[in-house]
Amino acid sequence: MQQYQGWEKFCNEPLEKKLPLFKKDGQIFDVLYAQQFAKTELEELFYLADRIRNISKTRSGMRFLSSVLNDKRAMLFFAQPSTRTFLSFQNACHILGMQTSEIRDSTTSSEVKGESSEDMIRMFSSYVDLIVIRHFTEGFAEKAAWVLNSHAGRAVPIINGGSGKDQHPTQALLDMYTLERAFKNIGGICGKKIAMVGDLKRGRTVRSLCQLLSLYDGVEFFFVAPESFRMRDDILDMLKAKGAKYTITDKFKDVIPNVDAIYSTRLQDEHDVEQESGGINYDLFSFKEEHLALLKKDAAILHPLPRRNEIEIAVDKDPRALYWKQARNGMWIRMALILKIFRREIEVYNFSGV
Ligand code: NCD
Repeated sequence: MQQYQGWEKFCNEPLEKKLPLFKKDGQIFDVLYAQQFAKTELEELFYLADRIRNISKTRSGMRFLSSVLNDKRAMLFFAQPSTRTFLSFQNACHILGMQTSEIRDSTTSSEVKGESSEDMIRMFSSYVDLIVIRHFTEGFAEKAAWVLNSHAGRAVPIINGGSGKDQHPTQALLDMYTLERAFKNIGGICGKKIAMVGDLKRGRTVRSLCQLLSLYDGVEFFFVAPESFRMRDDILDMLKAKGAKYTITDKFKDVIPNVDAIYSTRLQDEHDVEQESGGINYDLFSFKEEHLALLKKDAAILHPLPRRNEIEIAVDKDPRALYWKQARNGMWIRMALILKIFRREIEVYNFSGV
């Protein structure tokens, strides 16, 4: 298969050199990694998401929202399984008046006829104004954005909806939005203690979330994982370089009373190469109803979902269990992000209601 020239060289450049290609006029365009966001940009997205959610409460507000991007279309290319991310992007687009098309299975695309993934992405860009990609290959979304920005006449923005074991930047945005709301009246995210629990080695959500949390002063991390699924060094090195404190442990119960948030994750066994997940007692990393009594009264329990046994169903009714709200927050923050990408947020700020 023919290759597009220059990807290898570009892909190995340091992030600071790559990022300008993914911006337009110094503003957000492609959304590929969590490291793209500054704290002020997160705050702006939270504010915009709050505004959107208020507007959506009335029928006239919904009618207004459906006009803001009704001249745009999106392509949802999800080559890996997805329920929440797919549905929340799809509904975010629909509320804003965008039409969507989707490919959820690569075997229904021309890849099976030998079309390169780069040509396929260029093809998508002919029909739509935005492409959201979930892919099992790390860096696929980045490569797609590189192809469009450096080769295609028609560069449309790309959003990474989850890339292999590496990144899930929009999940991190909704996680931060949920934490921001949870801690609003107790001093905000700065200085909070956050436990990340489970398969931290292969969980892309925790990796992206660490990047965003590291923008907030004094956040302290507790990485609670089985020995073989500990957080990888690249993230630990990043935290060290920023002076953030972290603890690595496999004693979940000891950590529970000390933290302000628990971010639970499932075993990512779809990435097993040699049945690495076998023989691990994941139950030791499960949050049970009996643990509620140990947890601080203002703490927040998050999970990107889907869950298996990481959080007992009996925990759901506790007001500190935020994971269902967290999923819905994904829709609001993705709407905010899409509005920013298309520079239409001003219309939302100017809406005075009727
Ligand atoms: C996560 C993912 O796909 O990485 N799910 C999601 O997007 N909400 C977490 C997971 O699958 O465990």
